[in-house]
Amino acid sequence: MTVVELETTGVAAGGEAVARDGTGRVVFVAGALPGERVTAALTEERSSFAKARVVDVLEPAEGRVTPPCPQVARGCGGCGWQHIEPGTQRSLKASIVGDALRRQGGVPEPVVDPGPALPVSGFRTTLRLAVAGSGGAGYRRARSHQVVDVDECVIAHPLLRQMVTDATFAGATEVTLRCGARSGDRLALVDPTSARTVLPEGHDDVLVVGTDELRAGRRAWIHESLAGRRWRISARSFFQARPDGAEALVDAVGEALGPPRAAGERLLDAYGGVGLFGGCLGAGRRTTLLERSASSVADARHNLADLDARVLRLDVERWRPAPMDVVVADPARTGLGRAAVGVLAATRARRIVLVSCDPASLGRDAALLRGAGYHWTSTRLVDLFPHTPHVEAVSSFDRRASTGVDGNEEDGHGRGR
Ligand SMILES: C[S@@+](CC[C@H](N)C(=O)[O-])C[C@H]1O[C@@H](n2cnc3c(N)ncnc32)[C@H](O)[C@@H]1O
Repeated sequence: MTVVELETTGVAAGGEAVARDGTGRVVFVAGALPGERVTAALTEERSSFAKARVVDVLEPAEGRVTPPCPQVARGCGGCGWQHIEPGTQRSLKASIVGDALRRQGGVPEPVVDPGPALPVSGFRTTLRLAVAGSGGAGYRRARSHQVVDVDECVIAHPLLRQMVTDATFAGATEVTLRCGARSGDRLALVDPTSARTVLPEGHDDVLVVGTDELRAGRRAWIHESLAGRRWRISARSFFQARPDGAEALVDAVGEALGPPRAAGERLLDAYGGVGLFGGCLGAGRRTTLLERSASSVADARHNLADLDARVLRLDVERWRPAPMDVVVADPARTGLGRAAVGVLAATRARRIVLVSCDPASLGRDAALLRGAGYHWTSTRLVDLFPHTPHVEAVSSFDRRASTGVDGNEEDGHGRGR
């Protein structure tokens, strides 16, 4: 294996530090931070770039720490940024998102707010784990399909910890563990079958269900409480992976939207899931929620029953746009894309608040929204996934008074809260 000495200067969206080798070729270095001198083993070589993994840190950056979780040394690939101090993680995420807005989005000088600091251990109330041949659950080894059977997990919510380490799921390939941090409800969704699942003592309350049973019509859900509301979340429905993070996201989206300008203001909650944004921000508004998944739609109808809200089961791209005052859109990793941007812009909403979980798709969507007559005004991050490079960004786009030309109207608009 070739080992090279490198000086890292930046950070890439995938979480690696960026360096250049002797020929000027870009090298993405896993396990390094920007501003370090390291030796690294090359793991992939192409003509235009290479990938490497740190072997030795010769000169560490200020934000480097010893990983708080011992499983990292055992090869667990669950958290790729355990070697970075949490405040530095948030600054690096702000820099990744700023780069994407500038380079792909064409936003001249984006100011990205790194957002609030949330607890960095015991926070995850949803965990998707691979199941090893032994039946034990764990995370995949970095860049491998091999499962590391962990004997502790610092990010798991205490209600899930013992299931991660001591439960067995023989006959399964994957398990999703979920809990309601404030309700105490717990659920294990086992794929494809839970027939041979064995839980540790003291776990009789856990609702265990196989994906085969869901397909046969069984219904299973847990509850969570947040932002003053109680949420029903079915086994297959998307929900944010931590309730404090969901509340921070609601705060960021609520601030970005601003208060309703008039009673009955029209809110579109696109990619609405079980109704998080429509439910928390729908008071005083008339909400239309668009969602593709049947189980999420059923949950959203239940969760928003007390509000003036219509929940429609369809793809955003297939909705016939109706006029709206404000829009919240929270798509999957792939982002909005051209078709959905066309639909959202056709509502002629004065503001579109975009929640993005991938910097590249945020950059692409920002460019599309700018082309569709909206200008970027702000981005705030909510660090839902400490110890990983995953980002969650809440960005605001306001409709330009005249939508003819895609000028650089962002100049002077950056609010940078
Ligand atoms: C990131 S989740 C956000 C859910 C919700 N806003 C929340 O915060 O809990 C994205 C949601 O979009 C739904 N979805 C994905 N593609 C869609 C599409 N093309 N049209 C409508 N919904 C879609 C998924 O089922 C999922 O519930």
